[in-house]
Amino acid sequence: MLNFDFVNPTHIVFGKDRIADIAKLVPEQAKVLILVGGASAEKTGTLAEVRTALGARQHATFSGIEPNPSFETSMKAVLQVREEGFDFLLAVGGGSVIDAAKFIAAAVPFEGDTWEILLKGGRNVKSALPFGTVLTLPATGSEMNSGSVITRRDIGAKLPFGNPRLYPKFSVLDPTKTYTLPTQQIANGVVDAFVHTVEQYLTYPVNAPVQDRFAEGLLQTLVEVGPRLLAASEPNYDDRATLMWSATLALNGLIGAGVPQDWSTHMIGHELTALHNIDHARTLAIVLPAMLNERRVQKREKLLQYGERVWSIRTGTDDERITAAIEQTRAFFEAMGIPTRLSEYGLGADAVDTVVRQLEAHGMVKLSEHRDVTPEVSRRVLEAAL
Ligand code: NZQ
Ligand code: ZN
Repeated sequence: MLNFDFVNPTHIVFGKDRIADIAKLVPEQAKVLILVGGASAEKTGTLAEVRTALGARQHATFSGIEPNPSFETSMKAVLQVREEGFDFLLAVGGGSVIDAAKFIAAAVPFEGDTWEILLKGGRNVKSALPFGTVLTLPATGSEMNSGSVITRRDIGAKLPFGNPRLYPKFSVLDPTKTYTLPTQQIANGVVDAFVHTVEQYLTYPVNAPVQDRFAEGLLQTLVEVGPRLLAASEPNYDDRATLMWSATLALNGLIGAGVPQDWSTHMIGHELTALHNIDHARTLAIVLPAMLNERRVQKREKLLQYGERVWSIRTGTDDERITAAIEQTRAFFEAMGIPTRLSEYGLGADAVDTVVRQLEAHGMVKLSEHRDVTPEVSRRVLEAAL
């Protein structure tokens, strides 16, 4: 096992009817800016519940944070917070609203050009406003981690950043708040959580059996619950709760502590979203099977372990078992209604060059657990994903 530090200060408030607990979690004297996306939080009644829980505290609402939140919109909220003196943020929504809240929290006290926060990956963040979240879409894990991804539309850049000051103070996880999600977003959530787990597990062995078993448990759970979530005619509380907690655990630092990590599929996926506006999870479903195939030598031992423990693949030569494990992964994404080929999103060979150029422009030139996924390797992966 590798050396590690593990700190996760986010207070999780899980279960039905827990939004009322916000009354105890937000400081009495706080002046709160609630952040929401489009219309969903208002339409579903979640926003009204949040406002009730805030009681007599001064508060206002900033709406319009878009999926794949933009720097431009987030900066409007930054100006409002600075001008009106809010001192607590409350994000109500999915990963996009929570990610925007993290950027706003970091940008409000930041001196200088706030785009620098993204360019430095958040290492230059010295302080941040406190914030809490009410999660309405289980997928990203943003509700219990200190990372965020922000897009600048004018230059087509979608960049990640993070800082230990950016953990939410609390996150309310009420599975019933996911009941209004369209099926496509449920499928996205399952696939995003699955790929988060894979990117911290499918690297090379470092004698970390607890992390491996945790990761395999999450993967098996997602494989079991995913199709059931899609097939259900009515939302099932236990399955929604299972997805919600799995997605949080997939990216709250626990399974990644003490093991190598490979975020190359995510970094290539971010470029596809920035250039072609494909949902985050869908970009991962395109890249991951091709990436695993490209990296079958470097990932050999873990691919065999993954095939055996997650997909019960126990016969055939090593190469046959690895191929079968990759094909099972692809079949799972497709069974979740998510296409796994660039061509299914209307993209052809000419799209590959632009993605590779953007990876270079953003310094994504030494990806993976071995730092050897160069732009040329990314190109082969994208070509194989056509
Ligand atoms: O905007 P509204 O009206 O709220 O609608 C949203 C949005 O259109 C809707 N929605 C959310 N909750 C709903 C609902 N609709 C009905 N009922 C509800 N309960 O769902 C749509 C998608 O929401 P979004 O927040 O964009 O989705 P998701 O949670 O998948 O977040 C994706 C973003 O998170 C980033 C992605 O790159 C992407 O920008 N990620 C953040 C990570 C992190 N911070 O750790 C890690 C991830 O790998 C990922 O990169
Ligand atoms: Zn993701």
